[in-house]
Order: sequence, then C-alpha cells, then structure tokens
Amino acid sequence: MPGDIHARLAALPAFPTLTGARVRLREPRTDDIDGLFALFADPRVMRYWSSAPMRSRMQAEGKVEEMREAFERRESLDWVVADRRDDLAIGSCTLFRFDARHRRAEIGYALRSALWGRGLASDAVAMALDWGFRTLGLHRIEADIDPRNEASRALLLRLGFSSEGVLRERFFVGDQATDSELFGLLAQEWHGRRR
Ligand SMILES: CC(C)(COP(=O)(O)OP(=O)(O)OC[C@H]1O[C@@H](n2cnc3c(N)ncnc32)[C@H](O)[C@@H]1OP(=O)(O)O)[C@@H](O)C(=O)NCCC(=O)NCCS
Repeated sequence: MPGDIHARLAALPAFPTLTGARVRLREPRTDDIDGLFALFADPRVMRYWSSAPMRSRMQAEGKVEEMREAFERRESLDWVVADRRDDLAIGSCTLFRFDARHRRAEIGYALRSALWGRGLASDAVAMALDWGFRTLGLHRIEADIDPRNEASRALLLRLGFSSEGVLRERFFVGDQATDSELFGLLAQEWHGRRR
C-alpha cells in the first residue's frame, strides 16, 4: 500500500489537467512566464510567503523550469491555475512533499491579487485535493500557513481543514521569525462532505 503513491505518480502518463467551471489546473508552459512573474513579484501575494517577491523575469523563467522538472521527477505537482476563458495563468497550486509511507502530502497555493475574494482559489484547491485523495490515494493533506494569513485560513476552513496547532518561529519571512500554523484534512473527512 505505501508504495502505491509512488507507483501512481510514476504511472501518470502526463501532467494531469483538472478542469473546473471557472479555473483549470494544467501543466506550466513557457508562455506562462509573464503571468507567473506578475504573480510572484506582487508584494501582496508574497507577504506571508517564505521567499521574497521575484525581482526579475528570469526568476520566473527558472520557476517554470523547476515546476516542469519537479513533475518529471514526480516530486511535486506544481500546477498553473489558468482562467478557463482564456487559459492565461492567474495562480499556482502545488501538491508536494509526498510521503508514501504515511500517504500524505502538503498543499500550497497563490492567486493574482486582483482576483482575490471570488472563490477562485477555493475552486482550484478543491480540485487539487480531490485529485490527491482519489487519484493518488492520499490519506492526509497538510497546509502550513502564517497564522496572520486570514485569507488562507478562511480558505482552508471552508474546505474542511482543521487547525492542528501553532509551531513557534518556524520560518523566517525576510528577517522576521514567524510562527507557522499547521492544518490537516483527512481523506475520510473530504469524502464525507462530498457525498
Ligand atoms: C490565500 C489566497 C489564495 C486566497 O485567495 P482568494 O481568491 O481570496 O480565495 P477565496 O475567494 O477562494 O476564499 C478565501 C476566503 O478568505 C476570505 N478572504 C479573502 N481575503 C481576505 C482577507 N484579506 N482577510 C480575511 N479574509 C479574506 C474570503 O472571503 C474567503 O472566505 P469565505 O470562504 O469565508 O468566503 C490569496 O489570498 C493569495 O493568493 N494569497 C497570497 C498567497 C498565500 O498567502 N498563499 C497561501 C500560502 S499557504
């Protein structure tokens, strides 16, 4: 059973595409570089991120490369969140840190700040969760947020995550040591609320 997660990842014929009513999760492409640069250079988006806002387009080029290579190694699924109407990159959503033995992974996400508050990020994260639980057979998905990140907390609670505790001064955001709040969602909870 534990090996299943790796086997299922290895068996993926291509980067999976998940299509919802308003957003699509798809593979990163070189024509996403400008969209991803706009996302990761925005200080509002990067406020609680563990790395500084991007300063040059080259960093976004490197990011697309990393996202693609991480999938090639089946280390993470780093989806571009695209607007369904024009397929342009508006965010990212990542399943990463797969632990096959314990059937768990982490999730992370970001959306262009001009689009916040419309439920688009919740739609994207819900699709990634559903795929992680159903297709990969994960038992638990975790998210690790800065406790001051109210929008991220609201999104996780809305999707059924529980807050499981605060780890003190676990990350440096710039020069500041910041707390980290761990959230968890179990497969049975996800399936229970979708029935
Ligand atoms: C977290 C993030 C993806 C949420 O995007 P979003 O488009 O606002 O998400 P949604 O509209 O799907 O829902 C978010 C919830 O937060 C609420 N919310 C949005 N902005 C908020 C804010 N500034 N303060 C408090 N709550 C906020 C929304 O009302 C919604 O709550 P509801 O479900 O009770 O209605 C977005 O704020 C973001 O990209 N932040 C920067 C990156 C980041 O911090 N990612 C998380 C790292 S783990």
